[in-house]
Amino acid sequence: MSAALIVLAAGQGSRMLSDRPKVLHEIGNAPMLAHALGTADALAPERTVVVVGHGGEAVADALTAIAPEADVVWQKEQLGTGHAVLQARAALDKFDGDAFVLFGDTPFITAETLARMDTARKDGADLVVLGFESDDPARYGRLVTDGDALLKIVEWKDATETERAIRLCNSGLMCMPAKMLFELLERVDTGNAAGEVYLTDVAGLAVARGLTAKVVLCAEAETQGINTRADLAAAEAAFQTQSRVRALEAGVTLVAPDTVHFSLDTHLGRDSHVEPYVVFGPGVTVESGATIRAFSHLEGAHVSNGAVVGPYARLRPGAELAEGVRVGNFVEVKNAQVAEGAKINHLSYVGDASIGRATNIGAGTITCNYDGVMKHRTEIGARVFIGSNTMLVAPITVGDDAMTATGTVVTRDVPATAMAIGRAPQENKQGLATRLFERLRAIKKKK
Ligand code: UD1
Ligand code: MG
Repeated sequence: MSAALIVLAAGQGSRMLSDRPKVLHEIGNAPMLAHALGTADALAPERTVVVVGHGGEAVADALTAIAPEADVVWQKEQLGTGHAVLQARAALDKFDGDAFVLFGDTPFITAETLARMDTARKDGADLVVLGFESDDPARYGRLVTDGDALLKIVEWKDATETERAIRLCNSGLMCMPAKMLFELLERVDTGNAAGEVYLTDVAGLAVARGLTAKVVLCAEAETQGINTRADLAAAEAAFQTQSRVRALEAGVTLVAPDTVHFSLDTHLGRDSHVEPYVVFGPGVTVESGATIRAFSHLEGAHVSNGAVVGPYARLRPGAELAEGVRVGNFVEVKNAQVAEGAKINHLSYVGDASIGRATNIGAGTITCNYDGVMKHRTEIGARVFIGSNTMLVAPITVGDDAMTATGTVVTRDVPATAMAIGRAPQENKQGLATRLFERLRAIKKKK
């Protein structure tokens, strides 16, 4: 059976006290919406419909990067979760499979849980609702059951004292044939304490029609929604803990796991070795056998097998390090391809550049890539020796097997095998140091 996702993301999230729509607040450097969508990928959905409302333009904009295939539908007024789902009806007009309703602000549902919901559907339940047991069920909707059959869902506001005593809660997620879901939703009215179209009412309506409704259980932690900045911080902490465990389980060495920060898309290969206090921003891939030394910050970078980065290195977007490359302390690399075995070991900035195989970049080298208006490239060949404190004024090319003398300001291309020397010639004045010292000491004495 093919699946369609209906992701609800129209709510305001007023408790975030933010100008940014709630679902775009980030966990692991990715909008929380990307977490829910990423997990649901495991269902191989044929269609994805995201219902937007508050801050909808920004959400639609973000979706072009997160899930370009998703359809965006608008819910102009937030009249309830059932009303939100109904907005997806036209978009799914020709769709004849199962609809999974997910919340954009519930990022921790696992693929395994979604798979169990899917299995319950395949095993014959018409409606599958994801529930959880809670010791502190607070204001969640309650699942009224008979054995493992679901009879109805009661919202806290509408529940009787007996119903409020139920500890089995509604996560909000459900799965049902799309056509059936829309048909039932059409019959839901607003005769409840909130005056809203409750999605949850489809459970009672389904049972009244003789359809079967089942509950699939998951851990409470999975259904954790995010409503406040404190929730967001707790979600970030949970995400980091999870990412560290996953990395360790995948054969990565984390010397001090609690000090390493991950992004949703961080990929660390087996046998990569990460020292304490390393931050992985978005878009980092580290291949197996690479070492990231302490206090390094990486984003948008690719580190190949056997490369060593840091301590105290910064890799910015477009940093491509080939096998065995070394990037040492206080080195920044941006939008630069560094070929096999090249070394940039100390105190350098390499940006908008390519560096050939086995080239050595001396301490304090700078690619002067920016003229105040435009960026320019520096191309350095293979087996080149760039002397310490070389300024490479881009656009500039240094050929294979060339050298630059220490302190050179390179403003003209250097041909292969040539040595560029561009610095003021040195003069040694015999005895001048002694005479100067004497004069200065005499001045100091008089003061
Ligand atoms: C909902 C459930 C409740 C469940 C709880 C779990 C209903 C009626 N109640 O309640 O049983 O225990 O989730 O967290 O479904 N949204 C829209 N448009 C709307 C209203 C909501 O897009 O008009 C979105 C929100 O952005 C959010 C999600 O739907 O992502 C849930 O809405 P929320 O208001 O948080 O529902 P709850 O009252 O928490
Ligand atoms: Mg809620």
